[in-house]
Amino acid sequence: MKIDEISNLLHGGDYNPDQWLEYPEILDDDIELMKEAGVNVVTLGVFSWSSLEPEEGVFTFEWLDNIMDRLYENGIYVILSTPSAARPPWLAKKYPEIMRGNFMDGQRMPFGGRENHCESSEIWREKVRIIDEKLAQHYSHHPALIMWHLSNEMHGLCFCENCAVNFRKWLKNKYGTIDELNKQYWTAFWSRRFTGFDEINPPVRFGERQLHGQVIDYMRFYSDLHIDFLEAEKEIVKKYNPDIPVTTNMFMQHHTVKINYHKMAKSLDITSYDSYPMWHLGKDKTSEWKTAVWASMRFDFMRALKSKPFYLMESVPSAPNHFEFCKLKRPKMHMLSSMLAVSSGADSIQYFQWRKSLGATEKFHGAVIDHDGSSDTRVFRDVREVGAKLKEMSYLKGQKSKADVAVIFDWENMIALFEQQNLRKDKELFDKIPRAHYEAILKNYVNIDVIGVDSDFSGYKVISAPMLYMFKDGVADKIRRFVENGGSFVLTHYSGLVNENDLCFHGTRRNPAFAPHGLNDVFGLRVNEIDALCDDEFNEISYEDKTFKAINFCELTENLGAKTLARYEHDFYAGLDAATENEYGGGKAYYLACNTDDDFLYEFYKHVIDHSGIPRIVDSGYVKDIMVKERAGRKFIMNFSTEKRRIGVDGEMIELEGYEYVIIESSLKKSYQEGKI
Ligand code: GLA
Ligand code: ZN
Repeated sequence: MKIDEISNLLHGGDYNPDQWLEYPEILDDDIELMKEAGVNVVTLGVFSWSSLEPEEGVFTFEWLDNIMDRLYENGIYVILSTPSAARPPWLAKKYPEIMRGNFMDGQRMPFGGRENHCESSEIWREKVRIIDEKLAQHYSHHPALIMWHLSNEMHGLCFCENCAVNFRKWLKNKYGTIDELNKQYWTAFWSRRFTGFDEINPPVRFGERQLHGQVIDYMRFYSDLHIDFLEAEKEIVKKYNPDIPVTTNMFMQHHTVKINYHKMAKSLDITSYDSYPMWHLGKDKTSEWKTAVWASMRFDFMRALKSKPFYLMESVPSAPNHFEFCKLKRPKMHMLSSMLAVSSGADSIQYFQWRKSLGATEKFHGAVIDHDGSSDTRVFRDVREVGAKLKEMSYLKGQKSKADVAVIFDWENMIALFEQQNLRKDKELFDKIPRAHYEAILKNYVNIDVIGVDSDFSGYKVISAPMLYMFKDGVADKIRRFVENGGSFVLTHYSGLVNENDLCFHGTRRNPAFAPHGLNDVFGLRVNEIDALCDDEFNEISYEDKTFKAINFCELTENLGAKTLARYEHDFYAGLDAATENEYGGGKAYYLACNTDDDFLYEFYKHVIDHSGIPRIVDSGYVKDIMVKERAGRKFIMNFSTEKRRIGVDGEMIELEGYEYVIIESSLKKSYQEGKI
C-alpha cells in the first residue's frame, strides 16, 4: 500500500511482539485490542536485531512473517524498522571496534545502551548492510509495508581513532590547506598552530576543546557521518522497492542532538518526530501553556523541515518513566496533546510503545496496554477516543497550512552559541530566548514555520531571528534582500558576531565594523557593547506608555537613523535604544537590543504583525492559555488551562472547559459544537 493513498490519519505505535513470542495468547489479544483502539499502523522491529539474527549469519524471520501477515489481514499497516539502533552482544564481542570511543579520552566504550556504535567502523557498516539487505529482500513488497524506519533516534558522537582519521579527511576537504584552518581556528592563541592535519584529534574532554571552530566542525563532521550512514541504509532498502518512503524518528533539543536536521531531512521522504513534553510538571499547576509552546515549536520545526506533514512517531499516552517526576496525563490531556500535534501538521499519532514490557529499563514507561493486559483502563479509553477522533479527520491527511511568519532556530547557530564562552555560564537561555520569541508570535494567533538560515526566506512576510550569533557566508546579504523586497525582519542582541567557524568579524581604525555584521545600514544602528545581567537584576524600557523589564542581556546601541521604539531607563546606558524599527527598501528591519519579559515581546510582535498586514487566524487578542492553530482551513482552538476560558472567534463567543478544544471550519462557523469533546 502506498502511504499517500491511505486516506486516514494514522494511529498506532511501536509494537514489539518479539518480546512476547512465548505468549501466544498475548499476541492474539494484541490484534483484537488494536482494532478496538482504532489502530491502523504499527512500527515493527526497531530493536529486533537479536531476534532476527540470533547468531552471526543465522536469520530467523518466521516470527516477523507471521506477525506482518496477521496485521495485514486485520487492516493494520506496518512501518518496518532497520535494527541498527542497538546491536546484539555477539556482534560487539566478536568485533569490539564497532563500539564508540568515549568523550573523555576516546577509548572504546564497553557493550551496552543504544546508539553506542561508531559510524566510521567498516565492520559495523557491513553488518548493518547485511541485516538491512536481508530485511529489504524479504519484506519490500509485503502488502502491509508502508514505510521504512531507519535506525532509531540517531544521535551522539564517537571519538575513536577511526573517526579521527575520517575527521581529518573531512577537514582537508573543507579547508584545503592547514594554513587556512589555522587562520579560521585562530591557532596562534595558546600556541596551537598545526603543521599538518595529522596533528588534529577529535575534541575529547581531556584534550583540545579550546578551539571553538574545531569543536563545532567536529559536530558538523559527525552530523555528516550520521547522514552518510542513513543514506547507506536508505540505498539498501530503496534498491528493492524505491516506492516505499523512508523516515527516521528525530528528537529535539538542538544543542544536544549532534545532527543538523535541516540537512538530514533532505535524505528523508517524510520527517518523523518523537515528542515527550513534560506535561503537568510546570510551576503553574493550572496551566500547561509553556509546555504546549515547547511542543508546538518542535512540531512547527518538523513540519517546516520539508514543508509538508510529519509523522508523530512516538508519544506517550500516560506517564513516561524517565522524567524527574513521572506524572500521569490528566483526563483530556491525551486528546488535547494529540490535537496539538495534528493541528501542527502531524499525519499520525503513534506511541512508544503498544504494550508495556515486563522487564528492563522501560517496563514502567506508559504504554497503551499495561501489565494488567486489559482494555478496561483509563489510558486505553483515552487512546480509543483519540483513534475514533482521528478517523473523523481524514480531511487533514497530507494537508499543510501556510505560514506567513518564520522563526529562525538554526542548528549551527545553536551549537556555536552553546560552545562560545561569554555572557553567562548557564547556557539554557540560548534555547529559551528563541522559544520566548516563538511564544510571543504564537500568542498573536498566526501560523509559524520554524526554519534554519539556509531555508528559503521568500515565502514569508515576517522572519524573526533571535540571537543569530553566527552569520555564515551570505546570511547578511540574504537578510538585506529579504527586507529590500518588502519583508519585516526581526534581529536581536548577540547577532552577527562570528562567521561559520566562530571567528569574530573585525574592522580597522579607518574601516570599523560593528555588529550586526554588514547590516548597520539595514537596521539603522550599530552595537557597541553587551552587558549580562544577573538573574535577579533588570533594567526597564518604556513602550507605548507602559513599562516592561529588560533582562539577561542588554546591548549598548548607537542610533544611525532608526526609529526608536523603546529606550533603557536605568544604569549608565539609560537613554540608549533598546528596540528600533528601520525602513529599508520596501520592508522593515527591527532590532531588539535586550531580552525582555514576555509581555513586551507580545506587544512588540503585535506591532510587527499588524504592520506587515498578516491576517490573524482568529480576530482576538491573546486569551491566556488558549492556543490557536490553523490547518487545511480548520481553526483549532485549544485550552491549555485547567480552568474555563472564553474567546471570540468569527463573531461568536466560544467557551472552553479546562483542557478542552474545538475545531472550527472557517466556512462553517456553526460546526464548532460538533468538535467539542
Ligand atoms: C525514545 C525511544 C524509544 C523509547 C522512548 C521512551 O523516544 O525512541 O525507544 O525509549 O524514548 O522512553
Ligand atoms: Zn568512531
